[in-house]
Parts: sequence; structure tokens; C-alpha cells
Amino acid sequence: MANRVVLITGASSGVGYALALAFARRGDHVCVTARRVDRLAELEQAVKALPGHGEFLAIAADVTDRAAVQSAVDQAVARWGRLDVVVANAGVGQRGSIADSNWDDLETLLRTNIDGVLHTIRAGVPALRAAGGGQIVIISSVVAGMIAPYAAAYSASKTFVSNLARSLRLELEADNIGVTDVQLGRVATEFSERRLGASGHAAKAPRLPVMTPEFVAEGIIKAVDRKQQRVVLRLFDWLIVLGNLLVPGFIGRRALKQYKT
Ligand SMILES: NC(=O)c1ccc[n+]([C@@H]2O[C@H](COP(=O)([O-])OP(=O)(O)OC[C@H]3O[C@@H](n4cnc5c(N)ncnc54)[C@H](OP(=O)(O)O)[C@@H]3O)[C@@H](O)[C@H]2O)c1
Repeated sequence: MANRVVLITGASSGVGYALALAFARRGDHVCVTARRVDRLAELEQAVKALPGHGEFLAIAADVTDRAAVQSAVDQAVARWGRLDVVVANAGVGQRGSIADSNWDDLETLLRTNIDGVLHTIRAGVPALRAAGGGQIVIISSVVAGMIAPYAAAYSASKTFVSNLARSLRLELEADNIGVTDVQLGRVATEFSERRLGASGHAAKAPRLPVMTPEFVAEGIIKAVDRKQQRVVLRLFDWLIVLGNLLVPGFIGRRALKQYKT
């Protein structure tokens, strides 16, 4: 479909930023949201430099704010008359033990990674229905379903959204709305350095092979074109997903070693 209307949350850096560029490069119209508006202004310049780019709309919105997310969807529909793809991408990491972590960090994680995704889906679905169908993309992680000591709240938040995707898909089937669950491995973005929580004994960044956000963006667009249900982009990441299923205790012990110095 040409000139799709796409809404992406958390597009001021990383995966969301690269994805906005990749859709715009194909001529799709892109509405992006995030809190750092200076970064969204940079993204706008980068989109405008692309030959044959689609139209662009940047909106300052915090995904934890339900009304702000609804307003972003409404503005996209007011501008282009429809919505075809919704990408619930905004997310934060958090490290530290469940018992001792700062509650504010845990709450920010839950409000962003869980409420933020719910707000995005619930605001997007009526617009997708009005367009006769479309695609919802949820950016999850290979840590969904993982035993992940010291990253347990993050892992649980991604388990929540990946599980949600499976039920949502059936709920929306009759509306011709597909749901793509993207389970990412490590990506070279600001994610690790912006992660909330303790440093020192609690956690260190795991040494894993990284993907570029541009590689991830191309993979997500292919998945949207094919209305794919689940996306795991590399063999390495499939091994983690399989490991979580087949030998969860082993993976949990490996994660414990990685995190606890
Ligand atoms: N990088 C990885 O290794 C990795 C692996 C697996 C999954 N993921 C997932 O991929 C997604 C994108 O992360 P990334 O790697 O691209 O990290 P990133 O570069 O830190 O990007 C995160 C984006 O989320 C936005 N965001 C955070 N809190 C927000 C809020 N309350 N309201 C609105 N926007 C918010 C940030 O924008 P503002 O701060 O400007 O609002 C930023 O644009 C996340 O869901 C993450 O969990 C990442």
C-alpha cells in the first residue's frame, strides 16, 4: 500500500528514529511522538533531506499520558484522514533487584513499558478500524519470558506486552487489524545508557552482539508489509528465545552471572 499513515511512539532516538526515516523513505506519512522535541526537530530535518519522502508530523507526547497519546492519534487522523500502522515503540530499561530498587524507577518502567503500550493500542485501534484495518507493531524483546535476575521488572514488562500481542491478535482479527510482536535482541541505541536504576553491583550491560537501528527498522518494515505475527531478527536471538523455552533455568543462571559482578 502506498502512502500509508504510520504513527510511531518514542521516535526521538534509536529504533523509533530509524523506523520513522525508513517509512518516510518509502513515501509513507509518518507521525512521531516523544518527549525530547529537539530530537524530533532533528528527525524532521533528516526526513526532509530524503528524496521522495512522505509527509511528517512531530508531536510532543509522553506515552504515560493517555490523553496525550489520544491527541497524537487524533492529530494524525485530522492531518491525513486515516491511520494504517501504529508502532508502540517507546520504552525504558531498568536494572537492579526487585526488593531494593528505587520505587520511582520501577513505576516509570511500568507506566512507560506497559501503560504506554496500552494507551497507544487503545488510542490507535478505533482509527485503524475506521480505516478498514491495519497493523499494530509492539516492540518487545528477547527477554520476554526470560528469567532475568536484576532485570526482572524490564523482562516482565516485555513478557506482558508479548503475551498481550497474542490475545490482541485474535480480538482484532475480525477488524482486519494484524498485530506484530517484535522481539529484539541488543540494538546499538541510547537504551543502555538511559536505563534506570542502580549501577555498581546490581548490573552491567551484557556483552552481546548488537544490531544497528537501521537494520532493525528494515526488518520491522518487512514484517509490516507481510503482516508477520512475530519477528526475531537474528539466529542469535532465536537461540535466546528457544533457550528461554527449553532451558529457562540455565538462561536465568547465565543472566545472573552476567548481571551480578
Ligand atoms: N536497544 C536494545 O538493545 C533493545 C533491545 C530490545 C528491545 N528494545 C526496545 O526497543 C524500544 C526502543 O528502544 P531503543 O533501543 O530505540 O532505545 P532509545 O534510543 O532509548 O529510545 C527510546 C525511545 O522511547 C522514548 N520514550 C521513553 N520514555 C518515553 C515516554 N514516557 N513517553 C514517550 N516516549 C518515551 C524516548 O523518547 P524521549 O525520551 O524523547 O521521550 C526514545 O525516543 C524500547 O521499547 C526498548 O525496550 C531495545
